[in-house]
Amino acid sequence: MPLSNQCVRFVKPAVGPVDERHFELSTSTVSAPDAGEIIVRNVYLSLDPYQRRQMMPGVVYTNPLNIGDVMVGRAIGTVVESRDPRFAVGDWALGHFGWQHYTRISATKAEKIDLDGFSPSTFLGALGSPGVTAWVGLRTIAKVRAGETVVISAATGAVGSVAGALARATGCRVVGIAGGPMKCAHAIEALGFDACVDYKSANFRDELAHATPTGIDVDFENVGGYVFDCVLERMNDFGRVALCGLVSQYNLPEPYGMRNIAEVLNRNVMLQGYRVTSFPEQRPAALRELKDVLRSGVLRPAETIDVGLAQAPAAFVRLFQGANMGKSLVRLADETI
Ligand SMILES: NC(=O)c1ccc[n+]([C@@H]2O[C@H](COP(=O)([O-])OP(=O)(O)OC[C@H]3O[C@@H](n4cnc5c(N)ncnc54)[C@H](OP(=O)(O)O)[C@@H]3O)[C@@H](O)[C@H]2O)c1
Repeated sequence: MPLSNQCVRFVKPAVGPVDERHFELSTSTVSAPDAGEIIVRNVYLSLDPYQRRQMMPGVVYTNPLNIGDVMVGRAIGTVVESRDPRFAVGDWALGHFGWQHYTRISATKAEKIDLDGFSPSTFLGALGSPGVTAWVGLRTIAKVRAGETVVISAATGAVGSVAGALARATGCRVVGIAGGPMKCAHAIEALGFDACVDYKSANFRDELAHATPTGIDVDFENVGGYVFDCVLERMNDFGRVALCGLVSQYNLPEPYGMRNIAEVLNRNVMLQGYRVTSFPEQRPAALRELKDVLRSGVLRPAETIDVGLAQAPAAFVRLFQGANMGKSLVRLADETI
């Protein structure tokens, strides 16, 4: 008996600000799995800035997004039917399952998750791609050392909050950049940043200088644009930039670009972009340390959870308005099987 399924489809390419008209709720059915396949009942969907990049016309990704497709995205859920020996009914599975209630997929494209005492949603946040991204950026790309000043933009987000905890655990002075006084207070009081600067303040450039009196050794760059230009002016000689993301640019019809590139030259700055998917061999070491910082309480990540598949488009749009605190998720079903 086929399962009735609801999904959100991508229906309009996005140039400039994204809104809910780029998505459409639709209904379909999921038929029984073939040999080697499973059906997952998705419990949490992950909302991530990279999904916005995939909505741009002509962007080439490993899992391309075409008009009419079910919206791409990672999800975690429980297996409800299995025709593969690696998965039993009731197992937790993680993968690119898309914005839908049920996903029929080859078992080779799903990862079996042992919750190991953590909540399922953690595997989309601190123990998921955002957490590993933070770890790779700090440990492999920037190679942070105790005593250094590290600046992290989008500091209260899924990646930034983990990067902050890891830098602090290393013994760095950690300065966040975030949008608004409430987020800056959260960064200091709940996430343990030493200072946090509001990039929406009219005096942002001066306030950043005040918060980094000995300059910046490492920039963990999540935002780009004007914020990044101001950070470059504070870099110390031979400083390092881990270029993780450019979220301020994804909704712009024309990118702002990088106007202070001369500072990279003037200050002997080492700038390296990276995609976490290019470092799969680092994941086990990252997860070991991330579990430690979670268990010790050094990292207490926040989550913003919307409820119901129909809320996914609006919640996604709000990600680019800074409405989320920590990892942005949509809950589709109860965690209990
Ligand atoms: N390199 C990789 O492999 C990789 C992997 C995952 C993520 N990333 C990147 O990491 C960055 C953070 O991702 P995330 O998942 O942790 O998202 P997030 O920080 O949880 O959410 C996005 C945040 O970006 C900030 N933002 C949105 N629009 C902005 C704008 N116009 N100017 C400045 N800030 C803006 C907002 O925070 P405020 O309210 O503070 O503005 C918002 O809350 C993104 O750039 C993403 O593309 C890269």
